[in-house]
Amino acid sequence: MMRKGIIAANWKMNGTHTEVTQFVNALATFAAETPGTKPVEVVFAPPAIYLDLAQANLAQQSSNLATPFSLAAQDASQHDNGAYTGEISMAMLRDMNCQHVILGHSERRQYFAETNAVIYEKITAAFNHGITPILCIGEQDQDNQQGKTTDVLTEQLALAIEKLSENQKQQIIIAYEPVWAIGTGRTPSIDDIEKIHQKIRSIFTQNNDTIARDLRILYGGSVNPDNASAIFKCPNVDGALVGGASLKIDSFKQIIKAY
Ligand code: G3H
Repeated sequence: MMRKGIIAANWKMNGTHTEVTQFVNALATFAAETPGTKPVEVVFAPPAIYLDLAQANLAQQSSNLATPFSLAAQDASQHDNGAYTGEISMAMLRDMNCQHVILGHSERRQYFAETNAVIYEKITAAFNHGITPILCIGEQDQDNQQGKTTDVLTEQLALAIEKLSENQKQQIIIAYEPVWAIGTGRTPSIDDIEKIHQKIRSIFTQNNDTIARDLRILYGGSVNPDNASAIFKCPNVDGALVGGASLKIDSFKQIIKAY
């Protein structure tokens, strides 16, 4: 069975009430698939304050949906509830019909000191509440230049490899985002993207064929309408996590179409 691709828009801390409304309405009725293209779904991660608005617009469009379309939070707490001012729980995401959560984004690791241990707690909390985690991993420029990419990725995946059930390993979505490619206009070569994705699939699944068959691995880092099609030709790339180029409806549509 062919894995269904995912093209995810991570708006980070950008957007307004009007822009979120326009984006959902434009994308909901957008037919990503034409005969001959691979199956794909769209995931939208607006800032958390707009998830309810995005959900309400999506619900209004539900009878017109041309392509599967769901929402993701950009982060959420590992705690279920309590005195954690400013935090949002996985239960709350579920309550708002949000289906995915991005976890371990390099900006969370870098600016909010998130460790692999905390990220794993968040993965567990997400699964406990029926939310699918999109786990971001990726090496720094220096790691890449020193040939340490595989070591870094292996370490970032270690807790999930050790502790998740086979079923959870089939469901989790991994996003490979080399930190040096995020927002820089630089990307690894197409060959390197394929090789690293293949490596991630084999490390994470430990050569379990069932997990390997189902595991979706997205590429993220300066994806744009010009490079998307070449990246999506890689057999081990199952879609993209798009930052900057997702802020404009037209460029995001072109990326979806390229899948
Ligand atoms: O979550 C998205 C990634 O950080 C990629 O961002 O497409 O702006 O490089 P970018």
